[in-house]
Amino acid sequence: MAPIQTTVTPFPVAEGSGVNFGAVVSNVDIEQLTDADFKIIRQALFEQQVLVFKNQGHVSPKAQFELTQRFDPTASSYGHGKTLDAKRSILHPDLKTIPHQPQVQVIGNGFVAEYEGLHNIQLRHPHHRTFHATTIPEADDLAYTRFYRWHIDAALYGLAPPVVTSLLAVKVPSGRTQVCRYDDGSGDELVVPLGTTAFASGYTMYDLLSPADQEFARTAKVEYAPHPYVWMSGAKSRSDGLGMVSEGKEIPLADLPPIEADKVQILPVCWRNPVTGRLALQIHPSAVRALHLADGTVIDDLAEVREIVHRLQRPGIAPRFVYPHDWEEGDFVLFHNRGLIHSVVGAFAPEEVRLFRQCNVAASHFPEGPETVETAVA
Ligand SMILES: [Fe+2]
Repeated sequence: MAPIQTTVTPFPVAEGSGVNFGAVVSNVDIEQLTDADFKIIRQALFEQQVLVFKNQGHVSPKAQFELTQRFDPTASSYGHGKTLDAKRSILHPDLKTIPHQPQVQVIGNGFVAEYEGLHNIQLRHPHHRTFHATTIPEADDLAYTRFYRWHIDAALYGLAPPVVTSLLAVKVPSGRTQVCRYDDGSGDELVVPLGTTAFASGYTMYDLLSPADQEFARTAKVEYAPHPYVWMSGAKSRSDGLGMVSEGKEIPLADLPPIEADKVQILPVCWRNPVTGRLALQIHPSAVRALHLADGTVIDDLAEVREIVHRLQRPGIAPRFVYPHDWEEGDFVLFHNRGLIHSVVGAFAPEEVRLFRQCNVAASHFPEGPETVETAVA
């Protein structure tokens, strides 16, 4: 009998939904992946952007790393490299590294006595009150939530953005739903499963723009702050999690760790999909510092830069375009980090234990822009 072929089934599209990405991959065991499986998975990843593999709770950190790295076999350092060592980085408290597979991190919520060589770890699901300029009142905190921070997984200083990120749900507290509010005057809100990861397509974000804005997006570049996660650590986010408010609270460049000019990144606004050729509007909104326009103009007024970026990105995170994944234990999700932005959502009680494994690898090459060719990292 022929082996059962790996199948890729696009998510069903709900009435009124604008989510045109995502698929479930069946008949595959990530622990025992064949070359034929990977060929199908790679093609599907670049076509569907989010892939969900059910019942993969047995997958080892090693197999998780190997699948993640297979998308970029010459990549060597992990997602943020040593940039996380800075004590002031806003990412520092949220990640714990697995000792025997340091490219894989444990994230989640609550106390875990032992897991994969980690002992007595206290995990903390990020809560918007620690990052947003305004907050949902305490009395409403159980029923309502926000997008914590829309982002690309990337150091944005020195290291190239990872191609893919993998997430494994090891332990998921029993579900309820919350209403995710944008709180930006639009009245927009979205019912989401507790502790969802929300995804929004960069391709949709680009397609929704007017022809003039598409032209702008195709020709402009974004300059990211040096040591962006330290730089932004004094500042606060907009209520929709899509970039920062401008109150002059960023750490002055002179107070950052030493800056190496050649590590500062100026990346295209649009990144080309290596398989489909489509353009994704890919900006990490909270790390943006300046815009470089086609005619050589540099916009470095932070408030103005952020307004422009927000105007370009906001339509793409409207409720009908957001996919909030409903996590079940054993779900292994692989997502195209160069074609999507994503956000943590939700608030857990301290005793609700959630345990996830995350892996990404800083890429060997920068994303291809609308006209540029891929450039190897020195
Ligand atoms: Fe992330």
